Amino acid sequence: MDRELLRRHLERIREMGISELFYSPTSPEDKRAMSPSERERIEEGKRAPQGPAVSEAESDHPLDEINRVIRSCTRCKLSEGRMNAVPGEGDYNARLVFVGEAPGAEEDRLGKPFVGRAGKLLDRMIDALGLKRNQVFIGNVLKCRPPDNRDPEPDEVEACSPYLDQQLDIIDPLVIVALGKFSAQYLTGSTLAIGKLRGQEIKRGNAVIIPTYHTAACLRFPDYKKPVWEDLRKALQIIRERERKS
Ligand code: URA
Repeated sequence: MDRELLRRHLERIREMGISELFYSPTSPEDKRAMSPSERERIEEGKRAPQGPAVSEAESDHPLDEINRVIRSCTRCKLSEGRMNAVPGEGDYNARLVFVGEAPGAEEDRLGKPFVGRAGKLLDRMIDALGLKRNQVFIGNVLKCRPPDNRDPEPDEVEACSPYLDQQLDIIDPLVIVALGKFSAQYLTGSTLAIGKLRGQEIKRGNAVIIPTYHTAACLRFPDYKKPVWEDLRKALQIIRERERKS
């Protein structure tokens, strides 16, 4: 890592309220464990292979098909107030998937997930992990913005969650980071508070779910940044270990 990269990395983790140093996921040891193409991709900051090179409108990739259905969905009342549905985006073969609660104002305006303040913090954490946003997949339980960012209602989760299930089945990631109570409760089927779910590793098919605090909560309560960062490090470690074994 050159000096400038190291400086940026240290700034990122300091912003997260972390004063200790963690070993970098691209340490020489980890680099040796990576496949040559992965090493090359990370060193050169190349884009991870994404969906097809044709546009989403033309592609017959199952995820693009789901995106088209989501963008014209009227299964629940949230469709009436939306500017844009937000299906999710990223690497269609991601090993790491983040699932949030629902789009906010900025996401509704742009049709993209996690592009507001909570999204910027998530971006910084992904960057500090040594990954690029386009090497992971980012989605939500609800694909349309609840009015005034209120909590998702049960009928909305019931109507919308099959889309998330299908997305996760197709991507088939190794780890799913559940950001916040609604995501963690939906994905684990538990009614426990996020503070109780955090720290558990729960299987969902081939994936391990890591419940953690939402980055929006980290903005309100900066003390949450450190546990979230630790959970993301754990997510990456699980991925590395599972890849080593396979
Ligand atoms: N919060 C979420 O849960 N999802 C987003 O896409 C943005 C903010």
